[in-house]
Amino acid sequence: MEYSKTILITGGAGFIGSHVIRLMVNKYPNYRIVNFDKLTYAGNLKNLTDVENAPNYAFVKGDICNREDLKNAFEQYKVSDVIHLAAESHVDRSIEGPMEFVMTNVVGTVNLLQQAKDSWTGDNHVFHHVSTDEVYGSLGAEGLFEETTSYDPRSPYSASKASSDHFVRAFYHTYGLPVKMSNCSNNYGSHHFPEKLIPLMINNIVHKKPLPIYGKGDNIRDWLWVVDHASAIDTIFHGGRIGESYNVGGLNEWTNLDLVKYLCRLMDQKLGRSEGESEELITYVTDRAGHDMRYAIDASKLESELNWRPSVTFEEGLDLTVDWYLANSEWIEEITSGSYKAYYESMYENR
Ligand code: NAD
Ligand code: DAU
Repeated sequence: MEYSKTILITGGAGFIGSHVIRLMVNKYPNYRIVNFDKLTYAGNLKNLTDVENAPNYAFVKGDICNREDLKNAFEQYKVSDVIHLAAESHVDRSIEGPMEFVMTNVVGTVNLLQQAKDSWTGDNHVFHHVSTDEVYGSLGAEGLFEETTSYDPRSPYSASKASSDHFVRAFYHTYGLPVKMSNCSNNYGSHHFPEKLIPLMINNIVHKKPLPIYGKGDNIRDWLWVVDHASAIDTIFHGGRIGESYNVGGLNEWTNLDLVKYLCRLMDQKLGRSEGESEELITYVTDRAGHDMRYAIDASKLESELNWRPSVTFEEGLDLTVDWYLANSEWIEEITSGSYKAYYESMYENR
């Protein structure tokens, strides 16, 4: 079959990447979707069992830090477009070991930009870089991150993502590479690795394990359902202007403590436990170093220019998410049975 585009999606076996792959494979049978992923601890091909046999889907095991891997994939598949999600994504891991974040998020991104620049001629290409609201730093009680907010990254993770954003813009201004960028708030949903707040809490509630809240639990995050992030990426990839960045979020701020308490009540109902049972598991632990206080996104540019909106409320999205975890216990058991145990002990034991 002659495909109208061949999109290389990096990090497609991860949490958000697998949702972007699912959307693209199903919605665009005339595109070939190539999932390029190193399969780190965070990459899992079981996230994609429903699309793995689709005729327009292919998987390449490769590392964005390896130029040969990238060159081979671009040549073999005649890649016309890129959606770049591959990254080290967990702030706590970046505090323990920043260098891996520099290698994947900065060096890997520059490799990928260089490969696209070397491979592409003409106008008919898009390099969509997926980034985070954490590049803007930390908010006080008021205000929202806008696309024009100055960069002020404060963790090794966000510093590496900010650096990657700067390189993407540099390739646009210097070489005319046709880039688009998006900066999204915290995602939640199915297939989320249980090192992040929501899936970690769901898993611990199920197993009646302590629920570790950093500090006082008053830090604020702005949550968006991962399927809505995937739809925003689709919208920006197709309709966004070259050289522009778009903030993605759903005006949905929660303190960590309120969110965990809500999750406890929801899961007590679903698991047939008595009211308040899971809340008793809440345990306050030593705060994250340099913990950003508040994130909140102004997505009005994306809404007014491209008519994008979230499709569900937080309550609806969280309900679907908890149901998915309860129905897919083998997925989470497989993930938490291996090296996760050592990770969990090193991060939470004696904290
Ligand atoms: P994730 O950690 O779940 O997945 C990352 C994926 O990248 C994995 O499949 C992993 O195997 C792959 N990968 C890592 N290093 C690689 C390398 N060197 N070469 C090829 N593949 C590699 O991450 P996620 O939460 O799905 O985030 C995806 C992207 O979205 C990241 O760029 C992240 O910064 C950004 N983002 C995430 C959120 C969020 O809330 N999770 C919000 C905004 C932006
Ligand atoms: O804002 C977007 C970012 O959101 C993404 O770029 C990152 O890739 C993603 O990991 C996420 O970063 P956060 O640090 O905000 O997410 P995390 O789930 O790690 O933590 C959310 C909040 O919950 C944060 O304030 C720390 C707190 N927390 C987290 C964990 C894992 C706890 O209190 N206890 C925990 O055990």
